[in-house]
Amino acid sequence: MKSESQLAFDSKLGSDLVVPLDRRLSVAPMMDWTDRHCRFFLRLFSPRVLLYTEMIVANAILRGDRDYLLGFDPAEHPVALQLGGSDPAMLAEAAAIGEQFGYVEVNLNVGCPSDRVQSATFGACLMARPRLVADCVRAMRTSVRVPVTVKTRIGIDDRDDYGFLREFIDEVAAAGCGVFIIHARKAVLRGLSPKENREVPPLNYERAWQVKRDYPQLTIVVNGGLRTVPQVVDQWQHVDGTMLGREAYHNPYVLSALHRVAYDDDFHAPDPAAVVARMQDYASRQVAQGVPLRAITRHMLGMFNGRAGARNWRRTLSEGVNRGATSPALLSEALRALNG
Ligand SMILES: Cc1cc2nc3c(=O)[nH]c(=O)nc-3n(C[C@H](O)[C@H](O)[C@H](O)COP(=O)(O)O)c2cc1C
Repeated sequence: MKSESQLAFDSKLGSDLVVPLDRRLSVAPMMDWTDRHCRFFLRLFSPRVLLYTEMIVANAILRGDRDYLLGFDPAEHPVALQLGGSDPAMLAEAAAIGEQFGYVEVNLNVGCPSDRVQSATFGACLMARPRLVADCVRAMRTSVRVPVTVKTRIGIDDRDDYGFLREFIDEVAAAGCGVFIIHARKAVLRGLSPKENREVPPLNYERAWQVKRDYPQLTIVVNGGLRTVPQVVDQWQHVDGTMLGREAYHNPYVLSALHRVAYDDDFHAPDPAAVVARMQDYASRQVAQGVPLRAITRHMLGMFNGRAGARNWRRTLSEGVNRGATSPALLSEALRALNG
């Protein structure tokens, strides 16, 4: 537990005090997508991009199979854990367990609009309960040393004026959250599916930039609709960092291009054959522990999107696992099909 004075000290400087992380580039938490196998794969495209887990419900961590839910390969680092929940005590306990597993940050989901999540009172509907979110942040910060961050939207339903977002940021920042990831569109809690909620409400980056102008001491990361290097570089003029979701998943080479711009002029995107060899080796270890080959190859289907032979690659992988292939040599076979 941190002392009160330590907490006050930390909260003045932001919770990045303990572990400074570079947040210019991150990959979004995506349920069913950014599992450990996906993260191992994405890590090959940038040694520094900050990766997030899928949202994991705090209660599941307290009651479920922790190794299954939280285990990951050290090669994935740096990895942040995203939690779902709204019970401060449960979140604090789940955060502490996550920290023991080695996650470098604990993030609270205040952006997911699904019905299932709303009925459990967490996700985006928590934007209407800033005091509760503040309590959650406070409780988590007393139980971990790593940064506690919040991922949010710019509003919900008809509460999408800047004043609403400001009140939320005010309250939660006062609880010691120094880093906000802002998905720059509002969530419509009734009437739109989660998928539509990532496409229909218009993007409004200006809102996130305004937060950065009004709270220069906070670290602000923008998320939503970013697909190209120039788009991302432009965001860095206004905010501290960027988070990519779907584009990183479907086109992981964008991470290499961004890594080069952000961190290392001399960085070269990994050779496809080297990526496939690393993944084949990884898959051999995982399959030996009972993981289905498909759980790994499914994340790799987009690797060659836009390049000649991409369809052969996808088809060889999909047909292979559909006919029950278990040998990771399927990956080499798919690479030959790509080039063939
Ligand atoms: C399949 C999928 C699952 C998602 N699951 C989560 C989640 O678990 N937690 C979360 O905060 N956001 C989740 N999101 C939203 C993303 O984190 C991100 O905010 C959104 O996709 C917008 O970014 P993008 O336009 O770069 O994809 C998910 C998005 C997708 C596509």
